[in-house]
Order: sequence, then structure tokens, then C-alpha cells
Amino acid sequence: MSADEEQLDSEQPTAPYLDAIVGFGFRGPGRFNVPGHKGGQGADPGLRQAIGDDALMLDVPADIHGVDIGVYPSPYQRAERLAAEAYGARRSWFLTNGATQGNHALCLALAPLGTRVVAQRNSHASVVDGLVLSGGIPSFVHPEYDAERGTAHGVTPEALAAVLAATPDARAAFIVSPTYYGMAADIEACARVAHDAGVALIVDQSWGAHFGFHPDLPPSALHCGADAVLTSTHKLAGSLTQSAILHLGNSDRVDEARLARAIRITRSTSPNSLLLASLDAARRQLAVHGEQLLHETLGALPVAREKLRSIEGVGLLDDALVGQPGIAAYDPLRVVLDVRGTGRTGLELRDGLRQSYDDHIELATQSTMVFIIGMGETEATLLRMAGDVEEVVERMRRPGERTLPILAPVEPPVMAVPPREAFLGDAEQVPVEDAVGRISCESIAGYPPGIPAILPGERLTAEIARYLRETLDSGGRLHGSSDPDFRSIHVLRES
Ligand SMILES: Cc1ncc(COP(=O)(O)O)c(C=O)c1O
Repeated sequence: MSADEEQLDSEQPTAPYLDAIVGFGFRGPGRFNVPGHKGGQGADPGLRQAIGDDALMLDVPADIHGVDIGVYPSPYQRAERLAAEAYGARRSWFLTNGATQGNHALCLALAPLGTRVVAQRNSHASVVDGLVLSGGIPSFVHPEYDAERGTAHGVTPEALAAVLAATPDARAAFIVSPTYYGMAADIEACARVAHDAGVALIVDQSWGAHFGFHPDLPPSALHCGADAVLTSTHKLAGSLTQSAILHLGNSDRVDEARLARAIRITRSTSPNSLLLASLDAARRQLAVHGEQLLHETLGALPVAREKLRSIEGVGLLDDALVGQPGIAAYDPLRVVLDVRGTGRTGLELRDGLRQSYDDHIELATQSTMVFIIGMGETEATLLRMAGDVEEVVERMRRPGERTLPILAPVEPPVMAVPPREAFLGDAEQVPVEDAVGRISCESIAGYPPGIPAILPGERLTAEIARYLRETLDSGGRLHGSSDPDFRSIHVLRES
């Protein structure tokens, strides 16, 4: 079959699951099952008004004939198959508890009790949470770190190879690409390194669900040899918040049945149909119109970038960084500003943007601001954003001053016991100053940038305590800390 004929035969312009719930929800079926709002009539009038009866009618439970059971392949199965086809996966699973669920399932499938895996140290918290659930033990590979700006990038293949060589019993390697800042790692080389070491490469591509759908974007990890890839589809690819897709690569390094089992136990028995339908629709849009929509955004961006670049004291982190260790490609759908030269922190400027313009950005650190750009953005919207930034910076700038980043701890903490043992162990709450040297039961990330500084099982150091305190004092937040003020922390009781 020629490529043209294949194109004509494609089912990508269909959305079978979305169509099936529309067919069921709107035909007026007798609804003597859950949900109790019965498609609207039993719902609070305020909710009906807010989200509309259409959304309530499409809130369809699992096990409905013609939707996910009764015909084979069911519309639900066809929808997941179309996702696999669009992404180039062997199999894809729709997730309704975000990429978080995907990391939990991957850990349960690949890092069972007492086994070792290699994991990127600045992985999302859900990776170590997954190891708490599974009982797996991490050996960490550290990402490249830009100490000038306080930003972490990807891992290098060399760093991955070194940790794998030191961890001969590792079963899999978990890495993140792209980062929050849109920097993608060299996945092809990382896959080669992992496969040479006899392990599967798992890529958390949560921030790159759109990769592979336009030639000017970094390639999808699935096309670079990764054995499983997680896409947080709601982040940039248009599905509803909390929906994501987990893809199995085209190798047999990850046991499909084991992964399917792990997904089942991390999933509600009542997955939300609106989330599932949004994944089916987002896949259709990406597969059918993604390239054009991305083309529109890529065409609209340069003028806004130029305007941002012209603001005194503001720099852009972009494709100029490609080629540095840990950065093999850059996602232009992230506008990342280096604001050190303004004498203001990214957090202060973020607040200024919100207060003056009701503009809300994805991430601000001491030295950076991250703007998420979507598909089909217009030049007008992006230029307005650049104008808002320009005005706020002009007004708030502190001439002659330079913002210093809060530096992440240099010395990596020692993992004294597996995360599961610490998380589930006999904990006591002690003042932070008394906890230095003790084993943390908590995973605490300074937000921004959301990377855990201390994990369950690691010994707290004075430097980590200092870093978390500085993050709080500079207007940041702590994720995962049982004491939001970080005066105390849970540590393992010493026997
Ligand atoms: C790299 C990475 N992986 C996983 C997640 C979790 O994604 P979700 O919010 O879809 O559960 C995030 C969230 O920010 C993330 O940054």
C-alpha cells in the first residue's frame, strides 16, 4: 500500500470512544445505574448551570454495552489502539489519574519488591512514590545542573552509562525528557546505553505529548528507541486535566501483561468518561491537525520572542543551549525567561503579571519564568503576553542589581534505607534542626521547581534543610512536607 493509500484508509479522523459516549449519553437511555446524578436531573442546579447538562449526560460509567463492552473491539479499545497508532506505540493505555498514575504503574511493573532500578534524581515525585508502592530501590543518575540559573537539565548518556555500570542488577532506567524548561535529552543515545546494559529505558515525556507531531519539535522518545513512554496529554496536547497516556514501545523489554496488571490496580474501577473522551479527541486532533496547529504556533512565536529578547535585563533560554550536556533538543512551546538581569526574582515578576494583567504562568523561580505555549496560538495573544512582561519589567526593575538563584544542594543525600521502608516505617516528628543526619520519611520538593530535595529513605543534610528554608523564605512552597512551614519533619525512629 502506498503512503497516500494508507492515509486515505486512516481511521485517525474518527474518535470512537467520544462518539460512543455521545451516542449513549444523548439518546435518552433509561439510566438506572451510576452516576447518581442520572445525566443531570439529580445534580445540584448550580453544578448543572456551571458545566451544563451536556457534560453531565456524557458522564457515562464503565461497562456500558456498545461503549466499552459488548462489541469487540469496543469503541474504548479502538480509541486506545488509535492512540497507539498515532504515537507509534505497541500498545497505549488511557490514564485518568494523570502521568502520576503512569509512574506508579511503571514502578509496580518494573521495580518489584527489593529490586533495583536506575532513576533520574530530579524525576517527578510520582516516581519515588511509585517505588514506595512497589518496594523497588533506586540508584540515582544526576541530571546536568546549570548552577548560574539554578536549573536542572536532562541526563547525559555518559552519566546514565556510569550509573548502570555501577548497578549491574538494575532492571530498568527511568529518565525525564523534556524537562519543565523544555530541554530534551539525547534519548537515542540513552536507549542505546540502557539496552547495552540489558535494561529497558523508560522516558517520562510528560511535557512532550506533542513531540513527534511536527518536524521542528524534538522527536518522540518512542521513535528514539524508548521501551515505555509516558505523556501527560493534558499538559500541552489538549485533553482534560488529569488525563494522560502511557505507551509501550516496540520492544519486548517491558512485559505487557505485567504493565497492564499494574495499570489496573492503580486505576479507579470508575474511570471518568469525560477524561477518557478528551484523550480520544486530543489524539484525533494531534494526529489529524496537530502539525498544522503546531505550525501556527511556531509561526506566531518569533515576533513575541524578539520582543521579549529586547527587554533590558531579560534573556531567553532556548535552542541556543542545544548541544550543552543534557540538552539534545529544545521544545519551542516553552518560553523560558532568564530574569536575573532585572534585579527582580521570577516570583516577584510573576506576581506583578498576575496583579496587573491577570496573566498566569506555569513556573517561576528566583531566576526564571516559564510560559507554556499551546497549539494553534495566535501572534496577537503571544505579543500581548510579551507586552505585559515588558511593562511589568520596566516598572519593577531594579537597575544595577542582579538576582541570585537559590542553589540546589551540591552534595547528594545518602539513601540509607529503601523509600518504602522509610515511608511506611515507624516515624516521629522532630524539629528540622534536630533532624539533620536522620532518615527522612517524607519526600519534600521545593516548588519551584518541584524537584524533591529529600526523599523517603535519605538522610537529611544541613544543606538540604537550608535550601528548603530559603525556598520558603523567598516566596516558594514546599510539596510533600507534612509541616507547610517546615519547622518539623517526620524521620524514622531510631531503635
Ligand atoms: C515530569 C513529570 N512527570 C509526571 C508528572 C505528573 O503528571 P500529572 O500531573 O499528569 O499526574 C509531572 C507533573 O508535573 C511531571 O512534571
